[in-house]
Amino acid sequence: MIDDQATCKPKGEPKFAGNGAEFRRTPLLAILTMEAVGHTMLRTLFIIALTFVVTTRSSAQGTDANPIYVDQGMDWTAAARADFYSRDQGSRLIALSWMQALKQKNGQPFLADGLSRYGYLPNPANTANLPVGFHASGPQDFQVVGMTCSACHTRQIEVDGKVYRVDGGPGLVDFYALLGDLDKAVGDVIASDSSFAPFAAAVLRSTTPDAADVADLRRQVDGWYLRFHTLMVRALPKSGWGVGRLDAVGMIFNRISGLDIGPPPDFMIPENMKNADAPVRYPFLWNSPRQDKTQWPGFAKNGNDILGLARNVGEVLGVFATFEPKRQGAIINFLDNNSTNFDGLSELENLVSGSALRNGPGRLTLLWPPGAK
Ligand code: HEC
Repeated sequence: MIDDQATCKPKGEPKFAGNGAEFRRTPLLAILTMEAVGHTMLRTLFIIALTFVVTTRSSAQGTDANPIYVDQGMDWTAAARADFYSRDQGSRLIALSWMQALKQKNGQPFLADGLSRYGYLPNPANTANLPVGFHASGPQDFQVVGMTCSACHTRQIEVDGKVYRVDGGPGLVDFYALLGDLDKAVGDVIASDSSFAPFAAAVLRSTTPDAADVADLRRQVDGWYLRFHTLMVRALPKSGWGVGRLDAVGMIFNRISGLDIGPPPDFMIPENMKNADAPVRYPFLWNSPRQDKTQWPGFAKNGNDILGLARNVGEVLGVFATFEPKRQGAIINFLDNNSTNFDGLSELENLVSGSALRNGPGRLTLLWPPGAK
């Protein structure tokens, strides 16, 4: 195992609390120290610096849609980046038309700010105003929003007023707040016929939609909400995960044991869903192809495509891929009604494990221009 990766991924967030000025002083300190230490230590320090060179603007990573992309190797081209930002891996969170019709607490459309209020980064290439790491897939008018790797594994930092993008870095995003707000927004819509009416009009694109269409939509939204809300109520801990953290493993176990293997019609076993109260920091990815094990507790064996795929399948189920395994005689059919996009996952794993991101940390020392304070 490459221990610099292990060393620089502490379970608890180290105590660097301070104001913006203190944050900005950190990189200089790191650079000076880097000159005096060996390579492994250097990388460790770099990552620690990277983690804390953030402005103190709560969850925001800087909303600049045209950041300076740090050099992450020759293979990490603009096309590779665009692919990383939007490749469908099979996640199916919620219908795009529903998300577009939902409102925030302040009455603004849910997607008004492209989810930047949770720290997600703008992706100007996305025509639906979805941020980096979110994609809409499926036929026109029936598109479903899903998440992909880059939503959680992309970092943006601000140094001396300049905004830098680090692909594969740990996201500074508040997934807990997004999940809770989405649950609340849909709950508000189905609270009464009068609250459902404007939502139905927007989704069905008619001021006077057909009553049967409204009833049909209502059934679909109720079905979605029953599963989503049950998971949220049981899994989301009261205290929240905090910005830049997520109990991914807890959520994946909840998802599979609680949402997928129960009896029809809803397939749930609610009592299997437990509080996901062990949030971890989003890891950076450029070392992962070289590690013997992955995940913070080191439980996932690593080293070949199948092991990578297994990890990613767990991950995509955790971010709401459709998965309805069915017993058929002596066997269980895991593939029927499974939205996991195996080609997409392989492509994403290739992107991440290609030489591009792997060469990242060495190059990233260019991040701070000479004389940076
Ligand atoms: C919803 C956020 C989210 C998404 C989407 C996501 N990840 Fe992760 N990923 C995490 C978190 C959190 C962890 C750490 C989990 C743990 O160890 O408990 C992690 C762990 C990993 C690791 C292990 C790294 C290490 O050093 O141990 C790899 C590799 C990885 N993810 C790759 C991917 C790839 C490839 C994709 C897309 C196919 C992806 N992730 C999608 C949040 C996410």
